[in-house]
Parts: sequence; C-alpha cells; structure tokens
Amino acid sequence: MAKAKVKFADVNVTVTVPVGTRIIEISEKVGSYIAYNCREGDCGQCMFAVVEGAQNLSKPSELERATLLQQYREIIDGWRSLDSAEAIAAAMKRDNLGGRECRLACQTQVFGDSVVAPL
Ligand code: FES
Repeated sequence: MAKAKVKFADVNVTVTVPVGTRIIEISEKVGSYIAYNCREGDCGQCMFAVVEGAQNLSKPSELERATLLQQYREIIDGWRSLDSAEAIAAAMKRDNLGGRECRLACQTQVFGDSVVAPL
C-alpha cells in the first residue's frame, strides 16, 4: 500500500500514513490542535491550514466547498465592524488566513507528502 508523510506543524510531528487517510484520523493521535465537532463536513470547526503539499491532498467536495465558503463568510462578517485597513489587516493576521489554503480535516484525504497546521 502506498504511503505518504504528513507533518503537523503545530506539534512538529511527522507521521507516515496509508494514502487515502483523512487528516482527522491522525491529527488527534499526534496531539495536533485542530478542533472538531460534527466530523461530517457540516460545521467547519475542523478548518485547518495547508502549509505545504496542497496538490497532494484530495480535491474538496461540493460539501467541503460549501462549508468552507460559510466559514469564510462568518470570519469576514466578524471583520465588518472594524473601521480601518490596519485593523482588518491585524484581524487577518490574528485569524491566520492571509495567503493560506484552508481545508476541512474531516474531509481531506492525504495522497502525498504535506504539511498542515491548525488556524
Ligand atoms: S468537524 Fe465539522 S466540518 Fe469537520
């Protein structure tokens, strides 16, 4: 069976897993701080950042795309009350989204080497 390496940057742990393993299946075992709730792609709680190797992860399903869109909208709604570009830039940095591809850990399968981190 083909294998892939996944590094969880927040805890600096790298594991080798069978291709097709979901991030959720390994993140809790290694102590990563990626949070979960529904585990079915509906709540968006498990959104994480892809640090490297986005091309080595499964393509997002329509469900994942819709949930990510909702999560982004909720985050942006939280920024609407901010009254300056500097405040919005600081919020983007705080929310750790700038320039990052985000995915859902309960939906994303590993097909090759990658590095992931909680938001
Ligand atoms: S845990 Fe709810 S979307 Fe992943």
